[in-house]
Amino acid sequence: DAGSKSGRGALVILEGLDWSGKSSQCARLLSYLEGQGCRAEGWRFPDRGTSVGQMISAYLANESQLDDRTIHLLFSANRWEKRALMESKLLGGTTLIVDRYSYSGVAFSAAKGLDIQWCKAPDVGLIAPDLVIYLDVQPEKAAERGGYGGERYEKIEFQKRVADHYHSLRDSTWKVVDGSLPMETVEEQLRELATNCIQKCQEKPLTNLTW
Ligand code: TMP
Ligand code: MG
Repeated sequence: DAGSKSGRGALVILEGLDWSGKSSQCARLLSYLEGQGCRAEGWRFPDRGTSVGQMISAYLANESQLDDRTIHLLFSANRWEKRALMESKLLGGTTLIVDRYSYSGVAFSAAKGLDIQWCKAPDVGLIAPDLVIYLDVQPEKAAERGGYGGERYEKIEFQKRVADHYHSLRDSTWKVVDGSLPMETVEEQLRELATNCIQKCQEKPLTNLTW
């Protein structure tokens, strides 16, 4: 039983390159968990619904230009503006399946050449994830997917640098899943990882991200 009625919810993050299949897998995982009677919500960053999120969205669509550090801080602010709600959901027993988090923040900005420590600093104090699932897909494979190239960072050379930075961010909370496997196989692996995580962290206190 993946239910989390007694303890807190889990913070489960999906990370990966653009068009690695995160969003589809988040949706599949969410409906599975709900079907198991688990209280869960799907979130994503950037959250384009806030006013900060709208600035980010315009930047990604190349409708506005922003300094590299400015946009980095906006992405971080977009997570900070959701921190209180995130905490209350988790403490109230709701598991959050989140499409991108601080690792995207660091990997994408560092791929532009910004200092990694500088990139990490603004996210210190956000809630630390219980599990980070990295969907591993070759940049060339992701580029074959329909819709690729529509937003600012969707270029193979850039995504290769992002992948290198993701690699250097891996820690003990990370699980790498081969995103080039059939969708159902990936889905099965995610179900197992998430279910284990939800069970394990019910009695664990929430902690803050320290990197
Ligand atoms: P999305 O396609 O998942 O909505 O993400 C939009 C783009 O924003 C994607 O190329 C990754 C990038 N990104 C950052 O550069 N920094 C961040 O902090 C986040 C959350 C996303
Ligand atoms: Mg995208």
